[in-house]
Amino acid sequence: MPKAILFVDDDREILNALKRNFFRSGFKIHLAEGAEAGLEILSREPVDLVVSDMRMPGMNGYDFLKAVCKGYPDVLRVILSGYTDKDTILKSVMDGTACAYITKPWDNEALEAYLRHLIEMHDAAHSKRVLEKISKIRDVPVLPTVYYKLTRLIQEDRELDEIRETIEEDPGYTAKILNIANAAFFGGKIGSLKQALMMMGRVNLMNLILSSSVFSIFKDAGCKTLNVETIWKHSNLTNKLLQRFYFLTKRKKIPDEQATVGLLHDIGYLFLMKYYPAEMHRLAKLKQEPGNIPVTEREKELIGVSHSEIGAYLLDYWNLPGYFSEVCLYHHEPFNKNVLHKDMVYLAYIADVYSWKALGKMRNETLDGRIPAALNLDPESLEKVVSRIESK
Ligand SMILES: [Fe+2]
Ligand SMILES: [Fe+2]
Repeated sequence: MPKAILFVDDDREILNALKRNFFRSGFKIHLAEGAEAGLEILSREPVDLVVSDMRMPGMNGYDFLKAVCKGYPDVLRVILSGYTDKDTILKSVMDGTACAYITKPWDNEALEAYLRHLIEMHDAAHSKRVLEKISKIRDVPVLPTVYYKLTRLIQEDRELDEIRETIEEDPGYTAKILNIANAAFFGGKIGSLKQALMMMGRVNLMNLILSSSVFSIFKDAGCKTLNVETIWKHSNLTNKLLQRFYFLTKRKKIPDEQATVGLLHDIGYLFLMKYYPAEMHRLAKLKQEPGNIPVTEREKELIGVSHSEIGAYLLDYWNLPGYFSEVCLYHHEPFNKNVLHKDMVYLAYIADVYSWKALGKMRNETLDGRIPAALNLDPESLEKVVSRIESK
């Protein structure tokens, strides 16, 4: 059955242009001249992906996509907007209302390729193998309620004191956030939550809360050879390296919304350690053997699913921004044809390899030189960044 896309826009001309553009795409196309009409189509037709305008009379795009998320959580949601309010778009992507956005005017070919990639990536993270594994777990881990409470407060631009009080309701949570804030951003210089909140942007704060929530739900995971602490150390170092490598290649700071993707790239390991500890122990032993078999292939062989696949599924399930699951899904296969944000995935791949190496646990894959070359990064400057971080 062809995949179905629903376009929602109050401008009839735009809908007609989209219809013409997608005429030979092979997708089944639905058009709706507003949110209400869009919801009506969703109630009677199977739809895989919704593309919505933001500013529309009646129900706006944000509320419409929220309703889609609630009523049809498996439908992918994308913003196509000329609306220049970056804040609303960013808010939609950060809180999981939309998984991606495209700005008008769009390039026909690029738009079609982009939507196709989004659908293929979603299918890969929801493959039969992954769903089979997930269905065997009685309670798929959910993020703590305090996470949702806090992200709502942050989005509503509430006073810092109110946010701090909510965090402090749980002392364990406070410690974890401070710990992550220091590790990821402040190098151990921050002593109080108030100070951390004042120095961090809204997006960084949300991401920190997210990372601490994720690590807190898997705190008991582990097997004989691997524990949460090791994954945390590796993830934290990967994140730091990713930020530095980003600067090295782009000569600017990594955008706030992407500044913590490295922290969650290996989240699938925590899941596998929790539910498949014996297999993970065996895998850790196998990894020490010579050979260049990718770690994800060994996991698929032994468990049926890889840490990248299961991690991407979870990040998607928790409604996190699309690039989190993309980095997670492809950090071991950066040349996969479905990779959309090549630079981020390439940087995560390099940072991951160097991070394991620095921690003395070199994974048995060697760095594919084509990746740094594609970003104009030479091994010497990469090594320099790593040793500078190590010396700290
Ligand atoms: Fe990994
Ligand atoms: Fe990793």
